[in-house]
Amino acid sequence: MSALSKLSPSITDMIRFDHSHVMVTFHQYTGTTRPSVKKALAETICDAVEIHATLEEEIFYPVMRGLAGGEPVIQKSPAEHEEIKRLIANLRATDASDFRHDGLMHELMRDIMHHVADEETVLLPEAERMLSKDRLNELGAQMTRRRLELLSPKAGKVAKNTLVGFSGSTTAIVVGLASAMMAAKFISRRHA
Ligand SMILES: [Fe+2]
Ligand SMILES: [Fe+2]
Repeated sequence: MSALSKLSPSITDMIRFDHSHVMVTFHQYTGTTRPSVKKALAETICDAVEIHATLEEEIFYPVMRGLAGGEPVIQKSPAEHEEIKRLIANLRATDASDFRHDGLMHELMRDIMHHVADEETVLLPEAERMLSKDRLNELGAQMTRRRLELLSPKAGKVAKNTLVGFSGSTTAIVVGLASAMMAAKFISRRHA
């Protein structure tokens, strides 16, 4: 096991962090009436959820299927991701000044909250019971490597939407700084 894997946050903590980031961003959405800010926040959520879903599908779910394939939550999770992706496509195709944008955003968040609750109350505790701390950290490092690959083509767009979404929001700035610090720590460890 590499030094990087040992230092990495566990995959389960990273999944929880991603969930909280989406919830905080949604909270910013409900607090604004400006269509340009709404669109930027909605795009931040859509990009973050798409990357998160891919990471779970490629790394976390296969491990969980191997450990507890009969578990109903792991069986229904990929179909729930598909439904979430369908709502993301509808939301992206809708103008933020269109009255349907809020409805679609709320529908997407209802689905996400339901899905996240199952992961946080069933899958993550199960993973932490069945896998060693080293294995959880190793999977966390694998997730970070893949995340950087998935993020790089979107880097400019993600930064721009994050900045617009940040306007006037202290919480978002704090969360954004925390993510930036996590990334910086990861990169400095990588070159240590
Ligand atoms: Fe998921
Ligand atoms: Fe998740």
